[in-house]
Amino acid sequence: MIRSMTIGRRSFLQTAGAAALAWPRAVTALAGDLQGGGSPDDEEFWAFVRSQFLIPSDRVYLNNGTLGPSPRVVVEAVAEHARRVAATYPPGVRWDDLKGAMGVLLDADPEGFVFPRNTTEAMSFVANGLELDSGDEVVITDHEHIGGYKPWEMVCARRGATLRTARLPTPARTSHEIMDAVERALTPRTRVLALSHVTFTTGTVLPIAELSRVCRDRSITFAVDGAHPPGMLRVGLRDLGGDFYASSPHKWLLAPQGTGLLYMAAEWRTRLWPTLASGGWDDLDLGAHRFNHLGTFDESRLAGLLAAVEFHGVLGVDRIEARVRHLRAILRAGLESLPGVQIVSPEGEELSSGMVSFRMDGIDSLALQAHLSRTANIRTRVIGEYDYGWMRLSTHVYNLPSDLDRVLELLALVGREGLPSAG
Ligand SMILES: Cc1ncc(COP(=O)(O)O)c(C=O)c1O
Repeated sequence: MIRSMTIGRRSFLQTAGAAALAWPRAVTALAGDLQGGGSPDDEEFWAFVRSQFLIPSDRVYLNNGTLGPSPRVVVEAVAEHARRVAATYPPGVRWDDLKGAMGVLLDADPEGFVFPRNTTEAMSFVANGLELDSGDEVVITDHEHIGGYKPWEMVCARRGATLRTARLPTPARTSHEIMDAVERALTPRTRVLALSHVTFTTGTVLPIAELSRVCRDRSITFAVDGAHPPGMLRVGLRDLGGDFYASSPHKWLLAPQGTGLLYMAAEWRTRLWPTLASGGWDDLDLGAHRFNHLGTFDESRLAGLLAAVEFHGVLGVDRIEARVRHLRAILRAGLESLPGVQIVSPEGEELSSGMVSFRMDGIDSLALQAHLSRTANIRTRVIGEYDYGWMRLSTHVYNLPSDLDRVLELLALVGREGLPSAG
């Protein structure tokens, strides 16, 4: 089992545990290299950041929304942990280090964090752990990912509850429009509202703090699918409110594949039923930590998660968000200049994030995706869900303007000449 020790809010890098490991020294060295600079258009700085990744130079990766490629230091932390386990040394991750790091990153009480494998598992813990009855209603939207809403669909089917879907405006123009759409779907029978902080379909930022207030006033349990924001935007869970926040640090936080996160508001830590029961499942003194008792699992991914949070801290939340938004703005302006491109993501800072979705008149997005991959080694995501048929491009800290030039040039060519016929 991972050892437990309280370290408060100090960075893990300042602890004795870190001194015994190699990867924290690499992070400290990186912090020295990255001092100063880092404005959104400081290309020398961001080229150095890109060199910290294993992405080949001829690869254009624009699908962080599905999985974030880990930087070298995270890969090394995972490997170092696995080597220590194989050498029978004590493992190098403590729950309290992880919880403390998350508490600082997401401005939340460290005691509320649980570390499942992903958002799907986190949301399943929530859906399965509540007492829903027939006649109850759960409200979702028509922009939810299967990982965020299937747990609710399953629980509704089992309990005889009803799943209702709010239709979101697309592209959304104001947060009021979004609030209206969601509030229209709530009824006196609504027990749960479950929706995304940032939608996977269009990268729209939903008004979570306002929705939290509505839910509190109406005694509705609010479960937020926060798969995307941590690592991409500044997230303050204290301000956002809500009952549960589920996330996948293997996306924008660039943690190893299979690292999830669940935050529970204080009242739920002793009330929610665990889905997986092991020692201490009913020990209410453990609070949310009851949900970390998952049997034996791969702890090296947690070493990688800790390294990812430290890497993120070295770059700085605000520097990262500003760079992500800067690249998104370049991409969006380029897309707007192309005839026949219909952008479905919102304009403006308040509602937008690091993902832009669009369709091209007369062009099938899946065929376009295959073309971009085949001809220029560009990785994209097509939102085929709900038959939307949009292409989605994500921008993160390892992307360079040259990546965006490459995709925009090809899209312009396809706009002029169409896709080459197959075969
Ligand atoms: C909004 C959203 N929720 C949930 C998920 C599922 O994430 P995971 O596979 O990490 O559980 C995704 C994955 O893309 C997503 O975009």
